[in-house]
Amino acid sequence: MTLLKIARMGHPVLKQRAAEVQDPTAPEIRRLVVDMIETMRDANGTGLAAPQVHIPLRVVVFFVNEGRAARENAGDDQDSGDFDADSRDGGVPLTVLINPELEFLSEDQSVGWEGCLSVPGLAGQVPRYTALRYSAYDLEGQRFERVAKGFHARVVQHECDHLDGVLYPQRMTDLSSLTFTTEIGAASEPSQEDGDSDG
Ligand code: NI
Repeated sequence: MTLLKIARMGHPVLKQRAAEVQDPTAPEIRRLVVDMIETMRDANGTGLAAPQVHIPLRVVVFFVNEGRAARENAGDDQDSGDFDADSRDGGVPLTVLINPELEFLSEDQSVGWEGCLSVPGLAGQVPRYTALRYSAYDLEGQRFERVAKGFHARVVQHECDHLDGVLYPQRMTDLSSLTFTTEIGAASEPSQEDGDSDG
């Protein structure tokens, strides 16, 4: 178990398309995932993608704690929706995605705050699709799928963007909301304690 060094915006590894994992059950993938989880937790992140630790492979880890999900979804102004999300306003257990694929279930987008461990100290408001289905391999090589809404869907989109060399500022439509988290006051309150959490 090792804490990995996190690549920051501007590093080439964050700009390229990451490669598919050939064997999701390979020991080195398991080791990578263990280290990514450790690194994510140490940094208080919500998620982490392998390119963020200088490994250009399509691997993501994330989790959503229940309180955060409820808070974000409450502020997210999403419609209650027709999709039977696997976690409606709830948390999502620690999840590993290998070679994930996304399918958007609605044209609807909502704007919400995001931060990124590769863009430390900043947060911005980012439009994301409100509902999607994703599928991926787990560490046993089994393909699984879930429906995600709200904050869960946001996290998955943010992480999977990393696999295609995209950082959240590139998704912002109004850069005026790009803010140092230390400047975020009582006026607008984008969950300060992990305002800089990845995503
Ligand atoms: Ni990120």
